[in-house]
Amino acid sequence: MRWTRQACVALDADDVLGELRGLFILPEGRIYLDGNSLGPLPAAVPGVLQRVATQEWGEDLISSWNTHEWLQLPQRVGDKIARLVGAGPGELIVTDSTSINLAKVVSAALSLARDRSPHRTEIVSERTNFPSDLYVAEGVVHMAGASLRLVHLDPAGGISAAVSDVVSDDTAVVLLTQVDYRTGRMLDLAEVTAAVHRSGALMVWDLAHSAGAVPVDLHAADADFAVGCGYKYLNGGPGAPSFVWMHPRWAAAARQPLQGWLGHEQPFAFDAGYRPAPGILGFQAGTPPILSLAALECGVDTVLAAEPFGGVAALRAKSTALTSMFIDLVDERCPILRTVSPRSAAERGSQVALTGDVDAYALVQALVDRGVTGDFRAPEVARFGFAPLYIRFVDVWDAVDRLAEVIDSEAWREPRFAQRAPVT
Ligand SMILES: Cc1ncc(COP(=O)(O)O)c(C=O)c1O
Repeated sequence: MRWTRQACVALDADDVLGELRGLFILPEGRIYLDGNSLGPLPAAVPGVLQRVATQEWGEDLISSWNTHEWLQLPQRVGDKIARLVGAGPGELIVTDSTSINLAKVVSAALSLARDRSPHRTEIVSERTNFPSDLYVAEGVVHMAGASLRLVHLDPAGGISAAVSDVVSDDTAVVLLTQVDYRTGRMLDLAEVTAAVHRSGALMVWDLAHSAGAVPVDLHAADADFAVGCGYKYLNGGPGAPSFVWMHPRWAAAARQPLQGWLGHEQPFAFDAGYRPAPGILGFQAGTPPILSLAALECGVDTVLAAEPFGGVAALRAKSTALTSMFIDLVDERCPILRTVSPRSAAERGSQVALTGDVDAYALVQALVDRGVTGDFRAPEVARFGFAPLYIRFVDVWDAVDRLAEVIDSEAWREPRFAQRAPVT
């Protein structure tokens, strides 16, 4: 399909999700294709933070734990996120970072699997998984006397066969990220989970690049544990806390190792011994970050605001239209670039990764200089996220227009664009 800017403007005019863009404060003139890394500022956040800081914290002080139900905020926001990922009320909680929650769930899953089958001592993950997932798994196996095996899932013969090829009778837990942070490749949650269960292992999902962008149904997939990020498509702000979910079948038996007072059955009994709070409440450890939770709630509300317009399914339909258009336009106008992400929309998350005979880092910087924000993931990928809540079709057109200009003019070769900043 050959797109025109005019056709993009017309698509935006017909877009039922279009009005949701108004829920954000977006800098004038910037096309923000990095909401897969840090979602933009929801317009409600400054007012809510002002209220929580000046009234709840400033005026009501410590009584706010009771009067403003601060202690229940992790569950309240958790119940909202649960609606986006096919979890039930009371099954999902917001707490800590994704990395910390990974440590809890990987460790809990490993213990549960070993309780059933003591010979199962291996965690399997993909070599290309997000490094924090691998580092955490490495740490857990070190403490637990288990092992970590990193594999490549070869999609050629279908994903179930790929999973069956890499698991063994020793596998206790499989830890995978549904949407690959670098390539955007998306795994079928139900199919992979079923293949893992057939092997006798437990399934832990990292939904960092899924929640708020692609339909997720944890119950339909029959997953065992899941974690995900608050600051990406959930728009919770820099360092927003993460979420953690456990299937209710494990609620009675699961134990996580970071046993802090707020995961205790009765924190204010101040007992010397630990008794876990029931279910997912026992996956809390310390005091919840109230300001961050208040901001995250606004962010989650921006995604829930799509519910009257078809919810996550409608967001997904727009997201695949945006990413498909981007790929078409890059093919047409930037032939030296190659799309690393799957070409089949069904196998792609809400982002597109490009590479080619260019310095991808410098390419991204030259684009940032021209008002288009993406990011770079080593060793060679320029990554662009298309959050359907606020990205328009015309943004896709304009972004590729500037990309083509940067390539045709070789502007990316300017030495200033090659200067690496600490965050890429
Ligand atoms: C797939 C994935 N998992 C885990 C993390 C780590 O999250 P956190 O910084 O909250 O620990 C990230 C961060 O970008 C990620 O992309």
